[in-house]
Amino acid sequence: MPRRVNPQIRHLEPENWIADYIRDIGDKNNKGSSLKCDVSHWTMHQDEPFWEITEQINVMANELLIDRHGCVQVCEMWGAVYKRGDYAVIHMHPDPGYVQSFVWYIDACPDCAPLIFPDPERPWLPPAATITPSTGVFAFFNSTDLHYVPPQECEHDRIIISGNIQIT
Ligand SMILES: [Fe+2]
Repeated sequence: MPRRVNPQIRHLEPENWIADYIRDIGDKNNKGSSLKCDVSHWTMHQDEPFWEITEQINVMANELLIDRHGCVQVCEMWGAVYKRGDYAVIHMHPDPGYVQSFVWYIDACPDCAPLIFPDPERPWLPPAATITPSTGVFAFFNSTDLHYVPPQECEHDRIIISGNIQIT
């Protein structure tokens, strides 16, 4: 029986400096991961400007997961800038230590490329879930749920933060 794809949507309004911060980092990854866009370092949660935000994400994650997993925390976090034509190939975050992953839209509109979770057993059917971008939307999902981002078609950039959660 496949596990149901059931992203949990929250809202966290991003402060104005965050988009510029991610832009300023630029690409540290040279398209070497599943994300074919500009990607920061993977430890952005350890950058001092993000300490307070990481704590807020930890609080949300614990509200969602503490009954199932006990205490959890952000263990990886990165920023990404999708320019027109950028995309993410289908992938998951399979480290056995991850209990959940997340995406947070820092600057995005509903016409930006969505995050799509296909039904891996019946990919011809409509996706099991789709997360429509909008600035402030914050979605938790199972790290082992396959997902991808089709090419960004908006003229403006789609800026996100994403990360993984582990048991403390
Ligand atoms: Fe991902």
